[in-house]
Amino acid sequence: MGQINIYSGNKPVSRVVTGGTLKDLDACLKPYRHIFAVVDSNVAQKCPAVSQLMDGLRRNKVEMMSLEPSEEHKTLDTVMGICSWLLENGADRDAMLLAVGGGITTDMVGFAASIYKRGVRFGYVPTTLLAQVDAAIGGKTGVNFEKYKNILGVIRQPVFTYICPQVLESLPERDFCSGAAEMLKTFVIEDGGNYRKAADLFFDMSGEYHVEVMMYGKDERKVWGDIVRKHSRTLTELIGAAARVKAGIVSRDQFENGERRKLNLGHTFAHAIETLVQREGSGRFNMDGVTHGEAVAMGMVLAARLADRYYRNDRNDPTELEDRISTDLWDCNIPCFCPYSIEEMAAIMSKDKKAEGGKVHFVLPKAVGEVETVALTVEEVCRLMA
Ligand code: GLY
Repeated sequence: MGQINIYSGNKPVSRVVTGGTLKDLDACLKPYRHIFAVVDSNVAQKCPAVSQLMDGLRRNKVEMMSLEPSEEHKTLDTVMGICSWLLENGADRDAMLLAVGGGITTDMVGFAASIYKRGVRFGYVPTTLLAQVDAAIGGKTGVNFEKYKNILGVIRQPVFTYICPQVLESLPERDFCSGAAEMLKTFVIEDGGNYRKAADLFFDMSGEYHVEVMMYGKDERKVWGDIVRKHSRTLTELIGAAARVKAGIVSRDQFENGERRKLNLGHTFAHAIETLVQREGSGRFNMDGVTHGEAVAMGMVLAARLADRYYRNDRNDPTELEDRISTDLWDCNIPCFCPYSIEEMAAIMSKDKKAEGGKVHFVLPKAVGEVETVALTVEEVCRLMA
């Protein structure tokens, strides 16, 4: 097992534990007498390791609540429901709130813990790859409000984020790939040799999956679970490396006044894509909607094109970096070609919640492992991308 600390100044404020099994979670929970666990209902049903964990928690008299997470129900009402449940069950200021689930669950539970009795401690067991490398690290909590994603929330650090690769064995391939896109994003920001290693791993996993499912017609979930188990060692190393990159950035800029903006690589485009899919349905896609990771993948490719236009005024299409990133994503079975025009995305991007003084911070990749944040108006972006 490994441990990565997140600091506020010199003080460790949160720890990310990597490579453990769910059985070892006991050590993280030992210091707390009053534990309240909120568990994603899908994971509880589909992941044997999580249902074993729940049995163990029940035996230890941990109060448990089941949550059916969705973007639609990522609301203040759901957070208030968690708070009501805490009140009804006598949760005090010394309570420890544990979230077991993907990013929607951890965001809402972290938010509930941050406001309940002016803040109680909380810890996460992220059950998706996306939450393990991104959402459950760094303390961003919140809910959607009106038409905006994650517009209400606070930054407050969990006591721990406990990353267990075993839970990924029951994650569907498409959801895994969504997390793979966020992991590749992290390594485009800070490489250290991990970008290639991750892209090669996901390429191999995707190849093995297609042979077994397409050629031999084997059961998709079982095949994918076996592939994740087979590669769990390399996967664990890469999850740890991505967590280390994120923990480092958050330690240097917890409240996103500067460097942390880098983690939004591809996200301004991604949010516009997700909003358009929500508005007009998934008609332009060959698949059902778009996952967050797929939207980030499309956003990263667009960011690479924007970077080339911005730095070199190079209008060759596709550019070298764009070509490299999109080829890697595509080879890993991550859809990365955006079906919307820049004009269609423009109105949504100008309302980006991170816009300041009419400018939006775009994260521009210059190379794998080197990005820069540049404030641009959406009109400037439209001109450059035309
Ligand atoms: N997901 C980006 C961040 O945590 O800053």
